[in-house]
Amino acid sequence: MVDNSNFLGSYPKTRLRRNRQSSWSRDLTSETSLSPSDLIWTIFVREGENVSESIPSMPEVECMSIDLMVKRVIEAYDCGIPAVAIFPKTPEHLKTEMGDESTNPDNLICRAVIALKKSIPQMGVVCDVALDPYTSHGQDGIIEDGQIANDATIEILAKQAVVQAEAGCDIIAPSDMMDGRIGRIRKELDHYNFKNVQLMSYSAKFSSSFYGPFREAIGSASNLGQADKRTYQLDPRNSDEALREVALDLEEGADMVMVKPGMPYLDILHRVKKTFAVPTYVYQVSGEYAMLKAAGEKGWLNSDDVLMESLKSFKRAGADGILTYWAVEAAKKIQKA
Ligand code: PBG
Repeated sequence: MVDNSNFLGSYPKTRLRRNRQSSWSRDLTSETSLSPSDLIWTIFVREGENVSESIPSMPEVECMSIDLMVKRVIEAYDCGIPAVAIFPKTPEHLKTEMGDESTNPDNLICRAVIALKKSIPQMGVVCDVALDPYTSHGQDGIIEDGQIANDATIEILAKQAVVQAEAGCDIIAPSDMMDGRIGRIRKELDHYNFKNVQLMSYSAKFSSSFYGPFREAIGSASNLGQADKRTYQLDPRNSDEALREVALDLEEGADMVMVKPGMPYLDILHRVKKTFAVPTYVYQVSGEYAMLKAAGEKGWLNSDDVLMESLKSFKRAGADGILTYWAVEAAKKIQKA
């Protein structure tokens, strides 16, 4: 903290409302700003052609076939959004105990990346690395003797990262929270000469009930059932431990780090940015989107206003960028303002 106590002044000589009296002055004195280039649009893809299904708990979010998704991404690029993060709704019959479909070079996500890179190569593409969209049990890792097996899982994740890089993915984003996965994935990418593929680690990913709508969207909720992810995702009571996760990931070669969820974890975001001063991202997760939208539908809040305010709060807390389902709407609003 800067010690500016000498400059604080006092009333009546000092009136903080002076700088706030007009819109131009508020703009001039704003400490942070939100621009479309801060946003990564999170999207769901599915099999099929010219099909789009709505997600009941996420109003206005669609799970789209690749052809429709590409069209929407071109529109997003035209709104100034620099990157998209894509998540697959894997057909149930392809889900297995070991999540085999994750390393299939012809899987849904790889085909989506190829299609995107063909139509709009200038758009950054982020792919999730984790097994939950592919496992019959909905866990992010494979299960051995009733436990999520860390070291066996990261071997599969390394292969998953390579098939995504081969498809043309720019940023590999591991969201699984296994120990040592960043180093293992970096090693595998480098071995296959993907030295310039970036790694955005979901470093401080908490075990959160705010992921509910996402799990519905990719169809992992019913597979997971009553099980949870507490043996690998962070405990919501912890903050120092989140910093240790970030430190380890940076040491293992992460180019960018992430905090997730967003709004209930602004303190973590702030600490991470202050401590490490590295490119830091925050994920406004499905449950955050759902609650703000739902309150809007009930007429209890203005959902556009609270969504915009929440995005600004991420920038203020220290985020360099924000993953959000609301990226296109936000970008349009910013451009109009
Ligand atoms: C998969 C993954 C999850 C999210 C992103 N990647 C769900 C989970 O960990 O259960 C959640 C995103 C959201 O809720 O919007 N590992």
